[in-house]
Amino acid sequence: MTELERMAEHVRSKISITPKIGIVLGSGLGKLADSVENAVHIPYSDIPGFPVSTAEGHKGEYLSGTIHGVPVILMNGRIHYYEGYTMQQVVTPVRVMALLGAQTVILTNASGGLNTSFSPGTIMCITDHITSFAPSPLIGSNDDTLGTRFPDMSCVYDVSLRDILHASAQRQGIDLADGIYIQITGPAFETPAESRMYAMLGADSVGMSTACEAMALHHMGRKVLGISCITDMCIGNSGITTHEEIQRIADLAGDRIGALILDIIGRI
Ligand code: HPA
Repeated sequence: MTELERMAEHVRSKISITPKIGIVLGSGLGKLADSVENAVHIPYSDIPGFPVSTAEGHKGEYLSGTIHGVPVILMNGRIHYYEGYTMQQVVTPVRVMALLGAQTVILTNASGGLNTSFSPGTIMCITDHITSFAPSPLIGSNDDTLGTRFPDMSCVYDVSLRDILHASAQRQGIDLADGIYIQITGPAFETPAESRMYAMLGADSVGMSTACEAMALHHMGRKVLGISCITDMCIGNSGITTHEEIQRIADLAGDRIGALILDIIGRI
């Protein structure tokens, strides 16, 4: 049994359902945890060998139960590369959700806007990503039982899930943009020159997570949906970026993103 399987087995022994959908709650989305019925909480610190999230605003536990009758597992808090973990450790929690049975994983995050048509509070459906500025989580010996050595990445974010999300946004009158997300390592926010470079490279928003998780899940053949809340603008005369302001805007947008997720769960 691999270490990942041992971790999955530990979580499996605590929960009574086989999750169909995994959800990673980024900044501001903690409230979605209240929608889980018959919730079982599994702190990361209870799982032997598991990385523990230290980022502010990130709780550090799995939550498993049902939403609208659909068995789900949520990550309330993720692991970031800037905390000092390896990329393999960073993607461990999403890989475990996949091993537990999640065929689809919804990744959410807060990010900085690079597309000038965005503003703080814009919700963006991630259509593709750039990870060239962060190490790959697939570096190292490949576990062939998870996925192939040289995985295709031509369509990481599932098109039909994106269509379902857009249809839900339209039904609910929620503005939803499309865009490309670039992952940087952090923890420092980008300089204006870096932001201009990322925009020139084709990115619409920048953040410190998500793309590595999407890559690891796609490696495992899982379907991925990415939803990003633009919390601050990195392009133009946008002033300084603070973690507090990011959290404030993410909290404000959290209800809209939560409404989207609650609506699509039964349609996936
Ligand atoms: N940069 C990186 N990560 C972020 C940002 C940003 O501007 N905003 C929210 N997360």
